[in-house]
Amino acid sequence: MPCIPSTTTTPSSLGAWVPMAVWRTRMFKWLLRVLRALCLGALLGFSALHAQTAAEIGLGLALESAEIARYSITVFPDGRNLPPGQGSVLQGAQLYQEKCAVCHGAKGIEGPAARLVGSGGFFSWRDPLRPLRIAKYPLLVLSVGASWPYATTLFDYIRRAMPRQAPKTLSDDEVYALTAYLLQRNGLVDADAVMDQQLLPQVVMPGLARTVNAWPPS
Ligand code: HEC
Repeated sequence: MPCIPSTTTTPSSLGAWVPMAVWRTRMFKWLLRVLRALCLGALLGFSALHAQTAAEIGLGLALESAEIARYSITVFPDGRNLPPGQGSVLQGAQLYQEKCAVCHGAKGIEGPAARLVGSGGFFSWRDPLRPLRIAKYPLLVLSVGASWPYATTLFDYIRRAMPRQAPKTLSDDEVYALTAYLLQRNGLVDADAVMDQQLLPQVVMPGLARTVNAWPPS
């Protein structure tokens, strides 16, 4: 016979089980509470133990604020953390020949290291002279003048990484001067420009328009 759901109600002895069901639900809830308390206890115990052992091992050294200042040299796109100081294109030109040209070429295009200058820094695909320009500046199609979105990054990079064989040997004034010179060679500032904390973040790089920000402001 097919099983047809009944629409009638029949008095049954199930009613007697209701107190039992209530009791079971209460037990279940109580058990859950105990379990939760146990988990929390274990977690707290573990973190306390962890904190204790970390303190006991005594790894690492607390840095003095002077040391922190030495490492905390990141310059942000908006110019935050730029140090005081200044440098001109003229000073940069001389420094460049002394300290950079040996690797980047007298004009910043010959290499052997990365090309820093050239044709507005970028050879456009729509540029009819592109093959000729690449033949003239064969080392890299892009230079910092074209691809880097922020002038402040140039300062940060030179200060922390260049010259390659002696990073962090340049004074802040020298880094401002070299940054000013490279920007001028890329046609982004005038020949009499002087760069400092206020002026450098105002230089608009063509690379910004070609860049997608992976960290949009929240
Ligand atoms: C001993 C060789 C050497 C000297 C000297 C040197 N550089 Fe470099 N530079 C390199 C190399 C190699 C790279 C590429 C590094 C990399 O990509 O990891 C580079 C990269 C750069 C870049 C980034 C280029 C890019 O497209 O990523 C800049 C800017 C730069 N140098 C500026 C300077 C300045 C300014 C000086 C002078 C103070 C200087 N360099 C001196 C070898 C040198």
